Amino acid sequence: MITASAPAKIILFGEHAVVYGQPALAVPVTTLRAHATVEDRAVGSGLSVVAVDSDETLPVDLTEHAVKHALAFMARQVLRFYGCQPPDAAITVTSDIPLASGLGSGAAVAAALGRALALRLGQQIPDDALNTLVFEVEKMHHGTPSGIDNTVIVYERPVCFVRGQAPSLFRVGEPVAVVVADTGVRALTRESVGDVRQQYDADRAAVEPLLLRIGSVVYAAQRALETGDFAALGALADENHALLRQLTLSSPELERLVLAARAGGALGAKLSGGGRGGNMIAFALPGSASRVEQAVLQAGAARAFTVTLGATPGEG
Ligand code: PMV
Repeated sequence: MITASAPAKIILFGEHAVVYGQPALAVPVTTLRAHATVEDRAVGSGLSVVAVDSDETLPVDLTEHAVKHALAFMARQVLRFYGCQPPDAAITVTSDIPLASGLGSGAAVAAALGRALALRLGQQIPDDALNTLVFEVEKMHHGTPSGIDNTVIVYERPVCFVRGQAPSLFRVGEPVAVVVADTGVRALTRESVGDVRQQYDADRAAVEPLLLRIGSVVYAAQRALETGDFAALGALADENHALLRQLTLSSPELERLVLAARAGGALGAKLSGGGRGGNMIAFALPGSASRVEQAVLQAGAARAFTVTLGATPGEG
């Protein structure tokens, strides 16, 4: 049986500004994954993708011009990349990653599917090639994505990402906990990215300094993570959140969770990803993570979990 998977991701610092060429830091969440499983079918059946979460079976046809579904599009891209006809198979895609909450579910299912289909074609798709194909899928989801999601998910390493540059990896010097809490509010990244674009076009002189400041915060946060300077890390998370709030990317639910996390002993807290809903993250010393998790759950988080950075090779 052929199977493949890809992890969720969280953006630690720099979301939105990354669309405008500023750096951003993101890490994979190796414990939360999308999976793809290939089953052979009778000769002549063709290829289909079974998307369990949306309860859809999608035929994949090389000749079709307009492919609306991201997964069918991903499968067709892989076939074209290898110049192959569709094999007689069904690829079932499942995911543990909550949808539309800033954890990269769309990129992860596409990456898992791409790897599984390539294996069925007798190929181990190189990460660089897979990254390029998943970026095309991200464009379907988000319009004008920076490319950070596909990069961290495909390479499954902590990355400092700058649009148009090869991603650089970074190491977390001292273990630090990141409590991830879901507001339970679904928000479309495409819309929040579009809103920031409108603000930028309407008043560039006001928006550009905020984006530049976020870039400086990101580089300082990378140094703080590398050296284990937790006091600086927390203050930088708070500052990044305040800048995102000025860009109107927070929401009452996010504010409630951010304040609860800080009151519960977090080093600092911020929204993560597209904003207006979805997830927030709080940095905490490993010993206080469970207290912070309790605090955000009590403040109404739909779900919360903790990732410890710097403790496992995959996460820094
Ligand atoms: O909502 P997410 O986690 O997919 O994050 C999007 C990150 C943005 O910076 C807002 C957009 C982008 O393409 O980088």
